[in-house]
Amino acid sequence: MKSDVYTKHPDPKKPANLDDYDRVYRSFDWKQARKEIDWFDGVTMNAAYNAIDRHTQTWRKNKIALYWEDEDGSTKQYTFEQLSLLSNKMGNILKDFGVTRGQRVFIFLPRVPELYISFLGILKIGAIAGTLFSAFQEQALADRLGNSDAEVVITNTELKKRIDKVRSKLPALKHIITIDSPDFATSMEHASDELHIAHMDPDEYAFMLYTSGTTGKPKGVVHVHRAILQEHMTAKWVLDLRDDDTYWCTADPGWVTGIAYEILGSWSCGVTAVVFAGRFDPKRWYQLLDKYKVTVWYTAPTAIRMLMAAGSALVKEFDLSALRHMCSVGEPLNPEAITWAIKTFDKPFHDTWWQTETGAISIANFPCLDIKIGSMGKPVPGIHAAIVDDTGRECKPNEEGHIAIKPKWPSMMHTIWRRPQKYKSYFEHGWYISGDRGMRDADGYFWFIGRADDVIKTAGERVGPFEVESALVAHPGVVEAGVIGKPDAMRGEIIKAFVVLTESQKSKVKSQKSADAFKEELSQYVKKHLAGHSYPREIEFIDKLPKTRSGKIMRRILKAKEMGLPIGDTSTLEEY
Ligand code: PRX
Repeated sequence: MKSDVYTKHPDPKKPANLDDYDRVYRSFDWKQARKEIDWFDGVTMNAAYNAIDRHTQTWRKNKIALYWEDEDGSTKQYTFEQLSLLSNKMGNILKDFGVTRGQRVFIFLPRVPELYISFLGILKIGAIAGTLFSAFQEQALADRLGNSDAEVVITNTELKKRIDKVRSKLPALKHIITIDSPDFATSMEHASDELHIAHMDPDEYAFMLYTSGTTGKPKGVVHVHRAILQEHMTAKWVLDLRDDDTYWCTADPGWVTGIAYEILGSWSCGVTAVVFAGRFDPKRWYQLLDKYKVTVWYTAPTAIRMLMAAGSALVKEFDLSALRHMCSVGEPLNPEAITWAIKTFDKPFHDTWWQTETGAISIANFPCLDIKIGSMGKPVPGIHAAIVDDTGRECKPNEEGHIAIKPKWPSMMHTIWRRPQKYKSYFEHGWYISGDRGMRDADGYFWFIGRADDVIKTAGERVGPFEVESALVAHPGVVEAGVIGKPDAMRGEIIKAFVVLTESQKSKVKSQKSADAFKEELSQYVKKHLAGHSYPREIEFIDKLPKTRSGKIMRRILKAKEMGLPIGDTSTLEEY
């Protein structure tokens, strides 16, 4: 691949945490990472203990672990010791509710401190934490809480109303804890801040996240305590976190990035983290970088493109001289975004590639390596990543194939909750097949090409077309729907729906005005039932959907038509 190269000039007095990639890649083995974390008896461990509690035995006890700020500017701060004691209390409250090892406790909260405290408390008692975006609506909640058989949900009074609406579909749900209720305040006050932290086998489940594929309902990707090994090493090597850093990860813990690099891996490195609970706003983001003197920043391409659109003049109003390292994840990072960053911040964003399933960064641009602008970088030491063809053979340099990883690695998912076959389907010919297509050049840099399936990436969020189609057909005016990702300069992709209407609905949308009004109604309908971010921004009415003879919607054809591309092989299609 031909590309511009950003050449690094490392300062020998301040080497990166990983300063000789090739040497470490050649010699590293995950056993060496064992000494980076604490074990209870050489055998058992707890990821949350490693993230927080172990630091209370060191000088970091009174170090700020969390600077928190919300939309209206209220602030709070917590030391490692405070987070340790508060999460102990949370663990004790859950125990009082009868929560035991292995039970599922879900958190349905915006980014308030209680979200982080709850997550830690759940892991500390050996239960499995699940996170839910606060944008989720009834159907999304019912699917996830139903499939996981969650026993407890931790939420607030406002969001609880959505759970109440679907509670009859959730027989396993025994308790809903509302963190803004007087009862909760009293419980926190009275709960003991001493807790016996569960000694977990490294392969015991720690947390789960629902994510989308092409077909079916969202699937529960389950991670184990051992994942902290890789989360820690990558936070150290890729994010380059050090003790004097102030680190801001802009992700929500409803997403795996917010768990691995806002809670577990980053705190395991003992870093001071900033959490902003408000909405995206360019000026506010720069204000935060300036106010907290953020040194390491981990964000996503859509946000970067939105900052670009807000212009470089705005940046100059702030003092961002503390920033020393910037990373990006979640969707392709276009070369323009990197060149803009170099011009504006005098440093590039370092792209990182991974997935909910991989549990931690797998391929990355390392601080010590030159960046081939547009490439995702090289595999993390200890990760054998490759480009393989359909038979599992490794492709030659610059040949397109599946991005694959040789199992196992410490943060690899351990199962798909209650769907063992689905879990198995990820592994072929001795490889984990990621579902992404890419290539590797002769220098070993990986390049992203696209998804091998119909999964949509809109503003970094992973959306399954089936979920959106199901939400659309629940509307009485809709017969069927086909949903695709349509390329978009800002959001990477937007959700576009092709909808077949009932005859009576068709007669109601004859004029442009009524058609537009009904499209808006459908968008809102999906938003209301599914989630704020998974609604179609574009809708087109269509008489018939292209389908295979067995009745499967051919989204590939919808996409080709939308983009004016050749439709390709239609031999399996029913008449179209
Ligand atoms: O398609 C790839 C894209 O995001 C997918 C994983 O999404 P999710 O499970 O939500 O996790 C994202 C955060 C870890 C991948 O299969 N993706 C992720 N990182 C990149 C990317 N696409 C291109 N470049 C990346 N750096």
